[in-house]
Amino acid sequence: MEDNLEFDDETSRLVEEFNSSQGAIERRRKIIAALALQAGEAILDVGSGPGNQIFEMSSVVGPAGRVQGLDPAESAIAIASRRCSGLSNVHFELGDVAQLPFEDGTFDAVMSSQVFEYLENVGGGLQEIYRVLRPGGRVLIHDTDWGALLWRSSDAQRMARVMGVFDGHLADPYLPQILAPKLRDAGFSDIKVEPIVQVETKFDPGSVSGVLMKFVVGYVESQGVSASEASAWKEDLENLGATRDYFFSSNEYMFTGRKPG
Ligand SMILES: C[S@@+](CC[C@H](N)C(=O)[O-])C[C@H]1O[C@@H](n2cnc3c(N)ncnc32)[C@H](O)[C@@H]1O
Repeated sequence: MEDNLEFDDETSRLVEEFNSSQGAIERRRKIIAALALQAGEAILDVGSGPGNQIFEMSSVVGPAGRVQGLDPAESAIAIASRRCSGLSNVHFELGDVAQLPFEDGTFDAVMSSQVFEYLENVGGGLQEIYRVLRPGGRVLIHDTDWGALLWRSSDAQRMARVMGVFDGHLADPYLPQILAPKLRDAGFSDIKVEPIVQVETKFDPGSVSGVLMKFVVGYVESQGVSASEASAWKEDLENLGATRDYFFSSNEYMFTGRKPG
């Protein structure tokens, strides 16, 4: 049984659905602001998925700039290429952060959203980003600390069981706790961290937690949780939504830094 989440067609489609949620739209806006993108800059999005962030960064850097997406999943590259077709300053490449197919010093800024928590070798990925940044270039890494998740349930034990299994879809569900030293070790300076807190008090199938629920059910069933337990877990949350007793909160973190020089 494969324990890492597989970025096949269905998962890439779910990431795209997630990216339409209000919380994801707002966080992409915060990522662009924290990166302080300028017209004319060359930007890399590592693990660009369905390309929503790329699409939005394209208009910020403008025709004199360049936005490069990279992802190892063919389905993600296909969806992202469709989204950005016609944008002359956008390019996509199939590839892995472990070995970025770019020359040293190519980019003014490199960002990566919800990708590093999946990596076995976080330090190696950061070193590659450092290499492809120009001296003085900026990095932004955005990930969730799944240990800080609050999701009200009428069955706390089942919630802990289901989310405990779900943690297995990541290499490190608590990555933000060690990201600052990892960035320092890779050579970055001026490291700062900014939280993004997602809070939802209404159940909406198209919200951050509403789409997350679909990821959770699909993944935990693939790991041996019975379909009846997974659907009872989901129905409980939907029922709490129907009685207006719903509560979801997750903590995401944007780490920024600079390559000295
Ligand atoms: C949760 S999705 C996030 C996608 C996108 N950043 C977004 O926020 O919409 C994680 C993405 O990381 C990609 N990924 C996984 N392992 C990777 C690696 N070693 N190098 C680069 N990307 C990777 C996956 O293919 C997937 O598209």
